[in-house]
Amino acid sequence: MYDLEALDRALAESIYAGKIFFAEETTSTNNDALAAARQGAAHGSVFLANAQSAGRGRSNHGWHSAPGEGLYVSLVLRPAAPPARWLLLPFCAGLAAASAIHSFSGLKADLRWPNDVLLGTKKICGILVEVGTDCADRRFAVVGIGINANQRIFPEEMASFVTSIALETGRSIHRQALLIGLLKSLQRETAALASEAAARQILAKVEDSSTWVRGRRVDVHGPQACTGLTAGLDEHGFLRVETAEGTVTVQTGGIRAAEIDSTCC
Ligand code: BTN
Repeated sequence: MYDLEALDRALAESIYAGKIFFAEETTSTNNDALAAARQGAAHGSVFLANAQSAGRGRSNHGWHSAPGEGLYVSLVLRPAAPPARWLLLPFCAGLAAASAIHSFSGLKADLRWPNDVLLGTKKICGILVEVGTDCADRRFAVVGIGINANQRIFPEEMASFVTSIALETGRSIHRQALLIGLLKSLQRETAALASEAAARQILAKVEDSSTWVRGRRVDVHGPQACTGLTAGLDEHGFLRVETAEGTVTVQTGGIRAAEIDSTCC
């Protein structure tokens, strides 16, 4: 259970101070954050739930959101940075989640472009970033983060590709401590968007925290479907993939490990 007074106190000096909204159950914290953002909710507003009845993932997938088990949180962010740098928000979230998971469990997560957080081959955290403009025509981003924390059993259809901190360590984790670590880390990462040099560091950190973005043979799915060897990120965070037809700069979609084919690149 969350202790909201303690949470407010722990974040009193942060961008989230006085802007934490908790629901015992909601459809999706991203829906709550989007609705509030459209009405002008401030940078740093936090929408947290103990359970989601319709948690959403990327590509119209759902997000398993059983009561009391995972961390389900969405932030309204309006970074003081040019729109092109907002493209790095999913990476800020991935780095922040990996750092919080590591601090509280010792587990070292891998970032799979663009925004999956994996332990080995299994997903431990998902990130859903949605952008829009509010009633005063000001841009906002909603950054939704789901961390599989204390699940011991997942529905059978997903059990082979997801994991949780509890399954990996054999111990339950205090979700509130994890949340505080996540939010503080996310504040640091997003502050870096304000400067071009610091934003470049975000990309460097992603390369360091990912076995996927360089030298990995992948199948790209989405509008730029192709197969090839990953060759790093460009300044927008787009993924370069060297294919038999040349280098493709993948802007959207996802990647999966490709079957080895020695006849190709
Ligand atoms: C994905 O991996 O496809 C993204 C999953 C994002 C899940 C989180 S849980 C909190 C927030 N609310 C949602 O409905 N989705 C995000």
